[in-house]
Amino acid sequence: MRSDLAPSAEAFGKVILLGEHSVVYGHPALAAGLPQGLRLEARRSPNSAEAISLSIPAWELELALTPGSEHPVAQAALAVLDVFDGPRTGWRIVGETHLPSRAGLGSSAALTVALARLVAPEAPVDAIIDASIVGERVFHGEPSGLDSAVAARGGVLRFVRGEAVQEIAMSAGFPLWILPSGMPRSTAVEVAKVRARHDRLPRLMTPVLDALGVAVDLGVDALISNDLMLLGEVMKVSHELVSGLGVGAPKLDQLVSQALAHGSAGAKLTGAGGGGCVIALPPTDPSGLRQACAELGVVPLEVEVVR
Ligand code: PMV
Repeated sequence: MRSDLAPSAEAFGKVILLGEHSVVYGHPALAAGLPQGLRLEARRSPNSAEAISLSIPAWELELALTPGSEHPVAQAALAVLDVFDGPRTGWRIVGETHLPSRAGLGSSAALTVALARLVAPEAPVDAIIDASIVGERVFHGEPSGLDSAVAARGGVLRFVRGEAVQEIAMSAGFPLWILPSGMPRSTAVEVAKVRARHDRLPRLMTPVLDALGVAVDLGVDALISNDLMLLGEVMKVSHELVSGLGVGAPKLDQLVSQALAHGSAGAKLTGAGGGGCVIALPPTDPSGLRQACAELGVVPLEVEVVR
């Protein structure tokens, strides 16, 4: 058994740029790593026999990783440590993050990737991703693996279920705003809503899902040629299409229309929908959008999507 942890480890957050839901039906999705992900620091605790503690104040998370714990985070964290035969006692792990949790921004994958890196800093990225997926199963049943790949690799990735991820060679990074609606949502519930509508109206929904897949390929072209106007237009159409699957929400539409009204080239819901976040390409002068967000009580997460 290993008894050491690295002093610190990091992981990216995740945002789905295009292709949520249609990815479940075999189409590609496009996701980006968020550099302001999660950083974990590990220190030896004074009592080497004490269970490892994990504290992430931003997520109001404070718990002991006690074997047999009912807490899903403890179960997932211990499952990841076990992949590399890591320590069970004698450490305090503290996390720092700007990511909200449970908002579709890959918080659980960031946690499991950073934990894997703490225990196996020398492991190749694929081994880190595999260990993260072991932890993700505790949270999500049968995860697609997209979140873990993005949390470990960063950059912009094109993902098709069951295939190797493809890194997109963007010609330049670009700024992105993430607007949290503050509305909780459940990925499983939203995926089930889409399934129900698809099964009721297959002839109508299949072309919508196909079009969302086409949007991903157009988005890839836009990123490769650094054409943010094209990316923005594809985002706008994708928002309408994905809302047509039944996962829109008035608050998400309000955030999208505010972003567009204040000069954003494109905005859409991201992730499962029903709540969670909107992403927007910020206008050159973002002061009007910032003001509109403040009036709605929304604090934008302003990030840079980097290569
Ligand atoms: O959990 P979220 O908000 O990142 O959304 C997951 C993306 C879906 O396409 C809706 C579901 C999936 O498994 O890919």
